[in-house]
This record gives sequence, C-alpha cells and structure tokens, in this order.
Amino acid sequence: MKLTIMGPPGGGKGTQAEILSEKLGIPHISTGAIIRNAIREKTELGKVAEGYIADGQLVPDELVIDMVSKRLSEADCENGYILDGFPRTLPQAQAMDKIGIKLDFALNLIVPDEVIVDRLGGRRECKVCAAPYHVKFNPPEKDGVCDKCGGVLITRADDVPETILQRLSVYHKQTEPLIGFYKEKGLLADAVGRDSIEDTTKVVLEVLGVKG
Ligand code: AP5
Ligand code: MG
Repeated sequence: MKLTIMGPPGGGKGTQAEILSEKLGIPHISTGAIIRNAIREKTELGKVAEGYIADGQLVPDELVIDMVSKRLSEADCENGYILDGFPRTLPQAQAMDKIGIKLDFALNLIVPDEVIVDRLGGRRECKVCAAPYHVKFNPPEKDGVCDKCGGVLITRADDVPETILQRLSVYHKQTEPLIGFYKEKGLLADAVGRDSIEDTTKVVLEVLGVKG
C-alpha cells in the first residue's frame, strides 16, 4: 500500500503513521523527521531548512521533492510506504505525478484547530527515533525516556504557541487545497479524528479497509 497521511500540524499524522507502519510492515516516511535530522546533523539541507521550520513556514518545494524522491528509491519502499507530511503543496503533489509515483490513498485526518494547540503543548518526541508521545494522552512508561529505543524525549522547537498558530495558518492556506486535488482523483479517504489514539486508529483502519 502506498499512502500519504494529510492533516493539520498535531493532527496525529506521525502517531497513526507509526501504528500503520508496524501493522502493514511498510516504512513510515516523515518529511518533518528527515528535515529535523538534517538540522541536527548540520547538513546543507539542514542549514537551509532550519530558519523555515523555526518560523513555522514550509521548506522550499524543490528541496523537499528531491529529498523524498531519493528516499522513495530506497529498497525498503518497494512494497509500499506511508508518507507523513508530503505532499504539502500543490507543486509537490504535481511533482509526484510527474515522477510517476501513484498513491493508493490520501488519508485525510480531520481535527479542529482548537484541539491542536492542546495536543502540541503536551507533545514529546524521541530525539533518536522520533517516536511521538504526549504527557497526558500517550505517556512513555518511564518519564522522559522512549519506550521503543530508550532515547531521550524532547519538546520540538516548533511546538511553541506562536509557531503552532503560524503552522496552522500555513496548513489552511497551502496544504488544505490538496484535499480537493485528491478528491478529484478519487483517492481521498477522510478520517475524523477522535479523542483517543486507539479510537482514531479504528477509524483509520476502517476507511482504508484494513482489518483491525
Ligand atoms: P512535521 O514534522 O510534519 O510537522 P506538522 O505537520 O506540523 O505535524 P506534527 O508532526 O506537528 O503533527 P502530527 O500530525 O504528526 O501529530 P502527532 O502524531 O505528533 O513538519 C514540520 C516542519 O517541517 C513543517 O512546519 C515544515 O517547515 C517542514 N516540512 C515538513 N514536510 C514538509 C513538506 N512536505 N514541504 C515543506 N516543508 C515541510 O500528534 C501530536 C500530539 O498529539 C502527540 O503528542 C500525540 O501523542 C498526540 N495525539 C495524536 N493523536 C491523538 C489523539 N487521537 N488523541 C489524543 N492525543 C493524540
Ligand atoms: Mg509529525
């Protein structure tokens, strides 16, 4: 299965992508995680991207398109993948078409803006493997430590109130138009997010037609 998970910042894309990746045995490819890793490693991409991320703006299309096409050509993507946070603009979606990447689904997680600020305020992320946690909704077994790899849990630099609002505004302007784009192609699968991760997973599996 080749799918992209769309939805607002903090909508649960990373959380559901992790769960689906384990369930389906296909890689979870988060453009945000790849970019944050590049920033930590101070690569050329990381140096350019750092300012955009800190301001809650999107990284230029050509950089992201290049990064994703390289990643998708790796061997583990042969049997499918879950894209999280890509495409995020119309030019990115059109570039995918141009390279011949065909998706089976564009899963659209629907979560209202009011819920987002609360969720992102309490989010923690593993510094090593990027697994997402929440102090209230999805706490780790041991405070501050990743259940999966033992890495340290950190708060993301863009999870501060002003940047969260900026990211939401960018989402509505630049990414939401993709909902219509994928609807026209017959690939859109709407999933209304729920108040718990487990309940949201049930909705996601149902709209994708995957057995729970
Ligand atoms: P990215 O890392 O993709 O950030 P985002 O889109 O802002 O989304 P988040 O990762 O913040 O949220 P999420 O939807 O993954 O939610 P999560 O599962 O963590 O991108 C970051 C930046 O990189 C962008 O701003 C941009 O600058 C750049 N970038 C990335 N891709 C790009 C592209 N294609 N083009 C250009 N620039 C790009 O959940 C959030 C929290 O809520 C967690 O704590 C979780 O535990 C909790 N939670 C999740 N679901 C539930 C639930 N149902 N109930 C209760 N709690 C829940
Ligand atoms: Mg994420």
